[in-house]
Amino acid sequence: MTNLLPSLGLDGRRAVVSGAGSGIGRAVAIALSEAGADVAVSELPDRVGALDEVCKAIESNGRRAVPLPLALPGLTSIDDFVAGAIDQLGGVDILVNNAGVNIPADALDLEEKDWDQVQDVNLKGLFFLSQRCARHMREAGGGRIVNMASINGVVGYYRRAAYCSSKAGVVNLTRVLALEWAQYDINVNAVGPTFILTPLTQSTFDDPQMREDLLKRIPKGRVGQPEDVVGAVVFLSSDASAMITGHTLLVDGGWTAI
Ligand SMILES: NC(=O)c1ccc[n+]([C@@H]2O[C@H](COP(=O)([O-])OP(=O)(O)OC[C@H]3O[C@@H](n4cnc5c(N)ncnc54)[C@H](O)[C@@H]3O)[C@@H](O)[C@H]2O)c1
Repeated sequence: MTNLLPSLGLDGRRAVVSGAGSGIGRAVAIALSEAGADVAVSELPDRVGALDEVCKAIESNGRRAVPLPLALPGLTSIDDFVAGAIDQLGGVDILVNNAGVNIPADALDLEEKDWDQVQDVNLKGLFFLSQRCARHMREAGGGRIVNMASINGVVGYYRRAAYCSSKAGVVNLTRVLALEWAQYDINVNAVGPTFILTPLTQSTFDDPQMREDLLKRIPKGRVGQPEDVVGAVVFLSSDASAMITGHTLLVDGGWTAI
């Protein structure tokens, strides 16, 4: 028998997922454990209790779960989080930069503090968490970083001047980090989901006009669920994607095929 297909399995790998108490991050953390990884998961300091259920799910897959606080973009918080994950898992092979916020507003009304908050969490926080993990991965001989971008990193959408700008930044930052860190065998890719039903998007989807508009844009005819995103993340964390770096894999139900 010839074995050409590299494994999608992550047995023995150590992963960290930011913002894993709900939505996409929760699903990604559990899927990584299903693939065989031990997983450190983060939540905002006042929401760490939200990690109880995801940790139980990871442990029920026979893997180690490490719940830790993280408040992006604070550098002390990032350093404590990375040190805690390395200490308790023995190292970090995979980083999934999932934590993110959206504060929708018409561009004419968008306030400076909201612009700053979105860039700070989605772009600055993601960069410094990547930098800190990559320093460790360089010493360890390699690793994988998967950034949660968005369809809104490649197309515009109403009331999302700050969010679309931050996610477009993630798409191009992914390319820069891939270029700089290829020499250390650190692959850096992004996943760009379409509209996924989570706590972040529930109020948008509850608006009948927005719902109709969104569904018109997605040829698959439905919005996504968190489970729709996990395959792309596991693939980009696995040996099967060894030669892929700097890429944003859209999970967009065909939105950009038009
Ligand atoms: N839901 C969608 O339609 C959609 C589509 C494309 C991309 N995304 C991206 O997917 C990621 C997850 O979103 P979700 O929809 O699951 O939302 P969510 O609100 O369920 O999850 C966001 C997570 O980020 C955490 N977080 C927020 N601010 C933080 C901070 N300052 N420091 C650390 N953690 C913080 C939250 O506590 C939460 O755990 C985000 O990056 C989002 O932009 C979502």
